[in-house]
Amino acid sequence: MAKTLIFNWKLNPATQKQAEALLGVYQKTVSKNCEIVISPPFEHLWFLNAKKPVLGLGFCAQDCFWENLGPYTGAVSALNLKLSGIDYVILGHSEKRIHLGETDAMVNKKILNAIGSGLKPVVCFGEDLKTHAKGEDVVKKFIKKQLTGALKGLNSYSLSQKNSIIVAYEPVWAISNNSGNVADSPADAAKIIEFIKDLLVSNFGFQVPRVLYGGSVNRKNIKSFLSFDQINGFLVGRASLDREEIQTIVRECGAKP
Ligand code: PGA
Repeated sequence: MAKTLIFNWKLNPATQKQAEALLGVYQKTVSKNCEIVISPPFEHLWFLNAKKPVLGLGFCAQDCFWENLGPYTGAVSALNLKLSGIDYVILGHSEKRIHLGETDAMVNKKILNAIGSGLKPVVCFGEDLKTHAKGEDVVKKFIKKQLTGALKGLNSYSLSQKNSIIVAYEPVWAISNNSGNVADSPADAAKIIEFIKDLLVSNFGFQVPRVLYGGSVNRKNIKSFLSFDQINGFLVGRASLDREEIQTIVRECGAKP
């Protein structure tokens, strides 16, 4: 299966001109051998998405709400995103959980609305440093609890809606903007991803689960993660803003479909 690369720009860059220049890097870097999706902040998403589309380059929102209409100031409609030509949405990112108090119950409602509206959610899960320090069994328990809370109520949805969900395993301690961060070891990340996939099949009825790894992926370590076939792709943060990083990551992923 071709790898999926979601490039999460977070709240970057500062200006529309810089966003357009960054889009240009991606437009020149598309690859037939992997799926490339960019996730700019909303203020750039609308503008960039309205530009001439390039085959092989998809767009992803960084959030959506659990309702599509009504008295919800500041909320973004999943249906409206879909109708605007956006295919993906990142949900449950640790930065939203940490800074905005997003809970598994909120993530759950957002996921259900997203798939009901035709969007493909990229749902982030992963343990914090304190949990990580307690060892593998505790980490697995933590992730199972997160998954169970966030994926509740999926049974009434069709298999294709279920299969449209991408899971991203992002250990919070590995994310590059967190102090003392370091990427997970590829072997350990692959082991947890294997565990997540088994759970998705046995507990949630997924047929072919797709699980990405995120947390300090860059041009120097991408090859080592690619040697584990369990990893279906990557959610890339900091490196998504740098030309050389983007080109190398896409080239390496394309070379190993
Ligand atoms: P990072 O971010 O690649 O900068 O660690 C990943 C993420 O937060 O999605």
